[in-house]
Amino acid sequence: MDIARTPSTPDGNPELADAAPTPHDPPVIRREDYRPFPWLVPKVSLDFDLGLEATRVVATLTVARNGKAEASPTIRLNGDGLEPLSVKVDGNPSNSWTMDGGDLLLTLPGEAHEITIATELDPSANTQLMGLYASEGMLCTQCEAEGFRRITFFPDRPDVLSVYTVKMRGDREALPVLLSNGNLEASGENDDGTHWAEWHDPWPKPSYLFALVAGQLVANTDSFTTMSGREVTLNIYVREGDLARTGHAMESLKKSMKWDEETFGREYDLDLFNIVAVSDFNMGAMENKGLNVFNTKYVLADEDTATDGDFDGVEGVIAHEYFHNWSGNRITCRDWFQLSLKEGFTVLRDQLFSQDMGSAPVKRIEDVRVLRGAQFPEDSGPLAHPIRPDSYREISNFYTATVYNKGAEVIRMMRTMAGEERFRKGTDLYFERHDGEAATCEDFIKAIEDGAGLDLSHFRLWYSQAGTPRVSAALQHSGATTKLTLRQDVPPTPGQPEKQPMPIPLKLALFDRRTGASNGEQLVILDETEKSFSFDGFDAPPVLSINRGFSAPVTIEREIVADDLVFLARHDDDPFARYEALQDLMVTHLKHAVDGALDDAARDAARNSIAGAVKAVLEDDALDDLMRGEMLVLPSETYLAETMLIADPGQIHEEREALRQALGSILESEFASLHERATSVPYSLSPEARGARKVKTQALLFLAAGNPDLGRELAWSQYEGADNMTDRQGALMALAGLSGIKRTNALLDFYNRYRGNALVVDKWFAIQAGSAHPEALEHVKALATHEDFTLRNPNRVRSLYMAFAYNPHAFHAASGEGYRMIADLILALDPINPQTAARFVPQLGRWRRYEPKRSAKMKAELERIAAAPKLSRDTYEQVSRSLG
Ligand code: TRP
Ligand code: ZN
Repeated sequence: MDIARTPSTPDGNPELADAAPTPHDPPVIRREDYRPFPWLVPKVSLDFDLGLEATRVVATLTVARNGKAEASPTIRLNGDGLEPLSVKVDGNPSNSWTMDGGDLLLTLPGEAHEITIATELDPSANTQLMGLYASEGMLCTQCEAEGFRRITFFPDRPDVLSVYTVKMRGDREALPVLLSNGNLEASGENDDGTHWAEWHDPWPKPSYLFALVAGQLVANTDSFTTMSGREVTLNIYVREGDLARTGHAMESLKKSMKWDEETFGREYDLDLFNIVAVSDFNMGAMENKGLNVFNTKYVLADEDTATDGDFDGVEGVIAHEYFHNWSGNRITCRDWFQLSLKEGFTVLRDQLFSQDMGSAPVKRIEDVRVLRGAQFPEDSGPLAHPIRPDSYREISNFYTATVYNKGAEVIRMMRTMAGEERFRKGTDLYFERHDGEAATCEDFIKAIEDGAGLDLSHFRLWYSQAGTPRVSAALQHSGATTKLTLRQDVPPTPGQPEKQPMPIPLKLALFDRRTGASNGEQLVILDETEKSFSFDGFDAPPVLSINRGFSAPVTIEREIVADDLVFLARHDDDPFARYEALQDLMVTHLKHAVDGALDDAARDAARNSIAGAVKAVLEDDALDDLMRGEMLVLPSETYLAETMLIADPGQIHEEREALRQALGSILESEFASLHERATSVPYSLSPEARGARKVKTQALLFLAAGNPDLGRELAWSQYEGADNMTDRQGALMALAGLSGIKRTNALLDFYNRYRGNALVVDKWFAIQAGSAHPEALEHVKALATHEDFTLRNPNRVRSLYMAFAYNPHAFHAASGEGYRMIADLILALDPINPQTAARFVPQLGRWRRYEPKRSAKMKAELERIAAAPKLSRDTYEQVSRSLG
């Protein structure tokens, strides 16, 4: 998902207060080395004396020997940047402890003890946003994966489950709201202007699910009655001015709770569910038990400030975090190698939820686009790893598209093979069998096997092998028999030179060219390197529709003529396959064009054939506008580069822009009337109105390419007439890619209209950094010195620099300046926020896949980063893997 100021800018030279000192070669943690922890910690009580600059923490741990582990008299309590102010055992000061790096080792004589340790923190100096930190005057925590050890000494691993009691005290005025996990047990006021609250969470949980929030917050309060009739109070806490923008999040939460009961039989298990929105946050949101903490981006939405895409983002992330209550919290992970156990499954659950809330085919296309745009490149590069990795140095680097999105695809394949009903039996068994446990991916697979009655013995390879399988498909026709031969090849990845074939479930259908009818959808499993399937009933060679609904996360290679793709784009009864056929048609053409294989006549012929297929999409009444808009999305430059062994991003950009221009000009009147029709639809959140807004901006982008003068006029009137952010942002995007005074005026107007609203100002940065404008790189340089730019806020950093790093024509400027800017950013950000800094490395890490000149420049920047005297574990690991 998800930046920067060079050292010359105002806040570019931070004091680096709490930057972790970098071990030169941070140790490798291996999955095979897992051992159960020798101690149990059934109870924890935490006492916080809160202050923005100084917070005192007293932790009391009830510990007992773990009979299921190899005994040890020593307990290792992880710490990161902490100093123990006092250590007591059973109430008495102890001197049987030592430090080992950041960890505290304590030797305990007996079977069970009570350990009490005091620490002191400075939340305002915590720029990493891990542990306890200050954000705009409030205090909040982020503990996943290993942030709890920045608060107190603790066995900070997900297989140690404890019941938490949390007492906190803070200034009544500065910190009027005091929250933690579970239920509020008691609260009161002190004479010194402070107040206190005591929270108790009855559900045993690992430390990464602990959360505390204190600040000036107001709540949108509502309630939900569960399927067994229990009433749950729901609160969404935000800063005062943001309350009016929490309605959509609340509706999404209630829908999620209902859907999880109906679809997976999962009921919420506390009387209270709290959500808090925070502006400074490294990721999207966090599923802390009963107290989810969210990036404001995934809570706040109204029509004036959020696009339709933002509304969907809120709904999806609210659902994701809520669903974690079962897939993640009630059943957690044994160790961090099992991360996909909770993340892959929860992503699948949120995808299925969103499919049910809106258009299922459109959601599927969007999810596949994310997979291809983010996960396929990961799987084919130096950072490739299985969905259950075997080793890491810094676990934060493994919150990846592979663990999340490919992880979801792998479970989706199980569901496809089992069918919905049997899959549900499998998940029921999983929840029943492992409730209250810290489980493994193997436990999940076994439960699906037993519950759904599937044999997944061979399928397990999807958990251990990295790389996107390539499937080739060839049709042979003779007499009335059609033979389909499928072959698979799983490419080598770092550390995995040889691969075994995996079971690949492929949905397919054959179409009769003349009648347009198919033989019906079938599911075949390609579970060997090569396998053939025969079909009867066609007296002429049929057209193959394969990997329908994207039933497997693979690439398909086949010989298919353009006419057959045009046929499928028009006639396939699977909406995904229609989309896919049109994409294929465009990808094939663009690849030929980039290869220099086309003369002018061939290029014109291909463009006309694509224009014909696009025209059919514009005119097909059977398509709704949401789907039409989806089909009009050109394949991304990133995806195009991914389909080529060695890419020239300059060429790709030129050819893709030229195709957009050709389509915009060939279909000018069609796009103009589409724009006009869509403009007449009034604002609402109905699918029809949302669809209209989607095709409106699509049409605008084609028109702006084909006829810039007309595009500029229409974009300006769309901008001026906009009564919602979707139209306004779409028009601004079109204008930002063009030249002229209207561009300047619109950007200025947008900024002045929304200055002070951080999430919208983020859009303003991102639109310029992600623009097709030829000078986007220069614009980014200037924006880095803008008074609203800061390296301290991850949303702002991402809005400028992620948008830039994923804007291929700007990032891959032939001069290499884009690479240098991102490397400078990584070096400047690393001491402030290593987790966010490391997220920029993968873009440079793809150096092997680009033409030699760019490749050398990218590699040189990685080497420059590697040579920096002090690097975080996060950045060190990503850079060394990228170079290795
Ligand atoms: N578990 C969170 C989710 O998937 C992810 C997350 C939130 C996270 N904050 C983090 C991961 C910080 C690592 C570090 O919803
Ligand atoms: Zn998650």
